[in-house]
Amino acid sequence: MIKAAVLGFGTVGSGVVELFDVNRSCVERRVPEGIEVKYILDLREFPDSPYQNRVVHDFDIILNDPEIRVICETMGGREPAFTFSKKALEKGISVCTSNKELVAAHGPELLRIAREHNCSYLFEASVGGGIPIIRPMNTSLAPESITRIVGILNGTTNYMMTRMEQEDISFEDVLKQAQEKGYAERNPEADIEGHDACRKIAILSSLMCGRTVRYEDIPCEGISRVSMKDVAYARRMGYAIKLLGISERDEEKGYFYVRTAPYMVPASHPLHGVEGVFNAIFVHGNLVDNLMFYGRGAGKFPTASAVVSDMLDCALNLGQNIPVRWSDEVMQLSDPGQKTGRYFVRMSAEGREKAKALFADSFDVTAEHAHSDEYVFTTGPVTESAFKEAVSSLPDVRSTIRILEL
Ligand code: HSE
Repeated sequence: MIKAAVLGFGTVGSGVVELFDVNRSCVERRVPEGIEVKYILDLREFPDSPYQNRVVHDFDIILNDPEIRVICETMGGREPAFTFSKKALEKGISVCTSNKELVAAHGPELLRIAREHNCSYLFEASVGGGIPIIRPMNTSLAPESITRIVGILNGTTNYMMTRMEQEDISFEDVLKQAQEKGYAERNPEADIEGHDACRKIAILSSLMCGRTVRYEDIPCEGISRVSMKDVAYARRMGYAIKLLGISERDEEKGYFYVRTAPYMVPASHPLHGVEGVFNAIFVHGNLVDNLMFYGRGAGKFPTASAVVSDMLDCALNLGQNIPVRWSDEVMQLSDPGQKTGRYFVRMSAEGREKAKALFADSFDVTAEHAHSDEYVFTTGPVTESAFKEAVSSLPDVRSTIRILEL
C-alpha cells in the first residue's frame, strides 16, 4: 500500500480522502498496490468525521515519516503551502495540488525542485476543476503548436452570470449561493475581480509556450462592472457575457496576447452554451485544429477527482520525475493596446452623434428604440488604444465590453 498525506481538509481535501474510499476499485485498477491516506494535516479538529484519527497538526510528522511517498496539497494560498511543498519535494516526495495561486506564483521553481529530487509536481486540478486539461497540454498536445486558448476558467462567476441571465436574482444573492455550494474562493474577490481566472490563464499560457507567463503581467478585469442591463442587451443581441481568459500567439508575427476580461460571446461560438459552474477551454492547435474541454470547473468531487488522477500518476512513477515543460524564463507579452477587436458600448443618448462620427463602422443596437435614454452600439475592428482614446472623449459611457471573435 502506497502511503499518502492530504494537506488541508477543506472542500477539496475532504473530497480526496472520501474518493479513496468511494472509488477504491477504480484506484486499484490503476495502482494495484493501492493508496492509503495515512495523514490529514489541518489546524482544526473534526470530531464528527470518520477520518478524525488521521488528523495531525504538525507537518513534520508527515515529512519525517519515510512511508509517505505522495502528498496532496489542497490548502490553498501561498504560505505555508509553498514551504510545505518545497520541503516535501526536497525529500523526494511527490506533490499534487489544486492550488492555482501557488502554481501561478511558484510553478517553475517547484517543478525544478521536483526534477532535481526525482519526484513530481503535478497540478491538474489547478485549472478547470474536474476537466482534464493540464495532462492533455503536457502529453496529447505535445506535438502541436498551440496558437489560441479561450477559457471559461472560473466556475463561480460563470454560475453567477448564468443565474443573472436566466433569473431575476441579485449579484449578492447569487454570490452567496455560489459560496454555499463551495465554488467560491475564501475571499470571493479573487473570483469576482478575475484574479482566479487570471492565474489559470497564466498557467495555461505558460504550458502553451513552455516559459513563464507572469499573471501580474496579464491585463485583468472581473465581472463587478457588468450590469443587468448589459446582460439583457447581450441576450437580445444573441450574445452571453462570460468571464474569459484568452491567450493568442503567433510566433511568425511575433505577438503573444494574454488577457482576462468579460466578453460578449456570440451564440455561434461553442463557449456560448457553457452555463452554471461548468468551465470550458477552447484550444486551437496548428495541426489538430479546434478542441474543447468541458466539465465542472469547481466543487468537491470534480476537483478531488483531478487531484487524485495526479496522485495515481505519481504512485505509478515513484522515484522518477514526470516531466512538465515550463521553464522559469519570463515570457514577454505584447502590448495589449495594439490588439484589434470589436466592442459593445452602452452610454447616454446625448453622445450618440459624436459616437457615430468616431466609430464610423459601428452598429446601432438601440436604433429601434428612438426614445431610449441610452445609446448602445457595437464597434467595428479597432485597436484597444484607439478605442480607449475615442471612448474617453464620449460623455457618460456606462459600459464597454469586448466581443469575442470566432
Ligand atoms: N473559485 C474557483 C472557481 C474554484 O469558482 O472556479 C475552482 O478553482
